[in-house]
Order: sequence, then structure tokens, then C-alpha cells
Amino acid sequence: MDGPAILAAENVSLRFGGVRALTEVSFHVRPGEIFSIIGPNGAGKTSMVNCISGRYRPTEGRVFFQGQDITRMGANRRAGLGLGRTFQNLALFGHMSVLDNIMVGRHHLMKSGFARGMLYWLGGAEREEIEHRRAVEEIVDFLEIQHVRHAPAGTLSYGLRKRVELARAVAVNPKLILLDEPMAGMNLEEKEDMARFIIDLNQE
Ligand SMILES: Nc1ncnc2c1ncn2[C@@H]1O[C@H](COP(=O)(O)OP(=O)(O)OP(=O)(O)O)[C@@H](O)[C@H]1O
Ligand SMILES: [Mg+2]
Repeated sequence: MDGPAILAAENVSLRFGGVRALTEVSFHVRPGEIFSIIGPNGAGKTSMVNCISGRYRPTEGRVFFQGQDITRMGANRRAGLGLGRTFQNLALFGHMSVLDNIMVGRHHLMKSGFARGMLYWLGGAEREEIEHRRAVEEIVDFLEIQHVRHAPAGTLSYGLRKRVELARAVAVNPKLILLDEPMAGMNLEEKEDMARFIIDLNQE
């Protein structure tokens, strides 16, 4: 490996009772790299993503993000460090608009609700809100979902919903994004689009 890893797994094992989901998995991901984990159903791909995001805690082994041992760190703190993710099964709010779904990704970047309320009439929170809306619109343009930004997420095609989920992960301003099966269930055209967006996002 040349250069320090942004993400490293060292001998990660995960057991659910008698089921060995992961057995001594190690790998390094360098900054700017697009790194894929492939394997058949039940191989442990989602389990690995969950060990990195903090949803699961490895039974053994360690996970490092930017050189820091995050194995025991909670999922929220990991997100705060710049770890973003999407889910294998869509985790969007179906009744909410595309824009509002993406705004959810900005929430950890916003000041507290109480301070927001206090500041609102002074214009501070309003300015902050406008800033976040602008950032979201940029992401919407980048991922070419302008035409559906006011549509309820639940009414979109599967391929578009996956793209909205990616947009929400990007809205967190992450240093690294974990994509769990970003193309499963897509037709060829949707897969090609998604591949292009992932490559372009990585370059940006
Ligand atoms: N919460 C859980 N409780 C018990 N067993 C689990 C749990 N999550 C995963 N497993 C088991 O761990 C193994 C790995 O599952 P995992 O979902 O990580 O695989 P995967 O590679 O993501 O599969 P797929 O391609 O179907 O998404 C499987 O045997 C699965 O049944
Ligand atoms: Mg999976």
C-alpha cells in the first residue's frame, strides 16, 4: 500500500450466535479510490458495511478511519467524522419530497433546534437554511434529479430513488461514502448512469 489508508479493516470477524458472517476480513482503501466488495448472497457484504458504519460491532478485529480506531465508536460520531452511507433496502421517506429527503442529510450540519428558534427572527437561522438549500440544489443538479425535486420520493422509479439516496449521503459532506448494493435491481441504463455518477462524484 502506498500512502495512508482512509479506511482500514484489520482481521474483522462478526458472529451472530453460531453464524459466522465475517471471518478475519482485512483490507485498505486509499483516498480517492473506488473500492468494491463483491460476493454471493449471504457472503457478508452488508455485515461489513455495518461494521464500518457502526451499526454492528465486530466480534473481533478493528476498523480504522483516517488512522483513528473507530471500532467502538457509535454510528452518529462516525457520521460526524465524515462517514456517509446508503442502504441496501431504500431508506427514504416516501411521503416527503426529494428535496426534503436530501435536506435530512444536512441536519447534522445545522445548529441546534433551540438556537435555530431563538435566532430565526434575527435572520441567522433563515440565512443558514438558505445556505443548506443552496447546497442541496447543487447536489440535485450534479445528480440530474432537478425534474423530480418536488415529487414525493415514494412515487419515483427505483433507479431515481437510489439516486436520491446517494444525494442524501452526499449532502452529509462525507469524506467517504459506503454504498450497499448501489445498482441491485437496476436495468442496464440505470446501472450505467449510477456508475457515471459514482465516478464523477469521486472526482469532484
Ligand atoms: N442481524 C443478523 N442476525 C443474524 N444473522 C445475520 C444478521 N445479519 C446478517 N446475518 C447473517 O450473516 C450472513 C451475512 O449476511 P449479509 O447480509 O452480510 O450478506 P450479504 O453479502 O450482504 O448478502 P446479500 O447479497 O443478500 O445482501 C448471512 O448468513 C446472514 O444470514
Ligand atoms: Mg447485503
